[in-house]
Amino acid sequence: MTTSATGLELRDVVAGYGGHPILHGVSFSVRAGETLVVVGPNGSGKSTLMKTAVGLLRPISGQVLFGEANVTTLGAPARAARGLANVPQEANIFRNMTVLENLQVGYEFVASHSAPSFGKRLDAVLDLFPEIRAKLRSTAGYLSGGQRQMVAMAAALMPEPSVLALDEPSAGLSPRNAEILFEVIGRVAASGVTLLIVEQNTRLGLGAADHGVVLVGGRIRLAAPAAEVLADPDIRRLYLGGA
Ligand SMILES: Nc1ncnc2c1ncn2[C@@H]1O[C@H](COP(=O)(O)OP(=O)(O)O)[C@@H](O)[C@H]1O
Ligand SMILES: [Mg+2]
Repeated sequence: MTTSATGLELRDVVAGYGGHPILHGVSFSVRAGETLVVVGPNGSGKSTLMKTAVGLLRPISGQVLFGEANVTTLGAPARAARGLANVPQEANIFRNMTVLENLQVGYEFVASHSAPSFGKRLDAVLDLFPEIRAKLRSTAGYLSGGQRQMVAMAAALMPEPSVLALDEPSAGLSPRNAEILFEVIGRVAASGVTLLIVEQNTRLGLGAADHGVVLVGGRIRLAAPAAEVLADPDIRRLYLGGA
């Protein structure tokens, strides 16, 4: 699955709730075809950043650029129609529908008449998620946590987006299942999709990324190639439990 690769950029974004800022001037860009992971402690503003990036939250100031376009004032459906897919942290599947129905909803939510057929997209997506190929007729809510995350990602990928945003994909998973999920995320990245991931598991997240951003208290503390962030002594001491 190769798509026209489009990057995503935040420029000096101030965002929060009820006029109270949580993000205090955040800037970074994910280049087309690359994976950027935002790590940081609980409450540091990661989900707020993600909501701003995908159009669920209008920033107080600053800009969001998707490819060449300034999408700051566009809501999430309009950004989705342009190829920005989003898997939120919670409630990201229809639990009482089958896996196949979830994929149909994902496709119909965005796909235009010029899009590849449902069958073609289903094949391409299931190649990335062989674990759920055998589960198409299962009720999504009865799958394991890791499989439910795969269904959520697969549904978001059905309309062939250029950028996929994932908020805490490993949340609630056992260490082993989180590892498996990040292997799958690596496959999605290798397929050419640009990834913006917010992840509390610093080691797993950065291990899957080209670039890392450390968000603390709504401010970027460090932005560098992921390997450099992983090797940073302060980051190791604070978030990786090592000296
Ligand atoms: N809908 C909301 N209304 C008001 N405050 C919120 C809302 N969502 C998050 N917050 C606050 O914003 C801060 C950052 O939250 P969040 O972006 O969810 O952090 P993270 O995802 O890094 O854990 C927290 O102090 C949280 O209480
Ligand atoms: Mg969060």
